[in-house]
Amino acid sequence: MTDVDWDGLRAIAKEANAKAYAPYSNFPVGAAAMVEDGRVVSGCNVENASYGVGLCAECTLVSSLVMTGGGKLVAFTCVDGHGNILMPCGRCRQLLYEHSAPGMVLETVSGIKTIDEVLPDAFGPRTLEEYRA
Ligand code: THU
Repeated sequence: MTDVDWDGLRAIAKEANAKAYAPYSNFPVGAAAMVEDGRVVSGCNVENASYGVGLCAECTLVSSLVMTGGGKLVAFTCVDGHGNILMPCGRCRQLLYEHSAPGMVLETVSGIKTIDEVLPDAFGPRTLEEYRA
């Protein structure tokens, strides 16, 4: 399994959190993830006056992943405005799953868990490949 510097990754999530644009919820979120090639990507939530179209921190993290060369995520953490670990919402677990390396690990409120543990029996790219075959 990949050695993960969780304190370092959380520090980057906290830096991202400080950039959040969350004037409506006042609930800033910062996320950071390690990519299989050693890159680190991060993101913050970006809200909108049309509340429903706001972006979660994981959305901007995934955008950054793709924009900086893509690849698969091996480790992920997410913090709230107090620096406490935050669980990705359901939609964001799906977003992360799409870009996860097998066995990707997440720092969660109940310890380190794999992507398969936080999104069991996931619908994903393989589902579509199996259907096409
Ligand atoms: N939020 C995230 O950025 N990620 C999550 O996984 C949970 C929720 C944001 C969305 C919204 O801007 C704020 O937290 C309050 O729901």
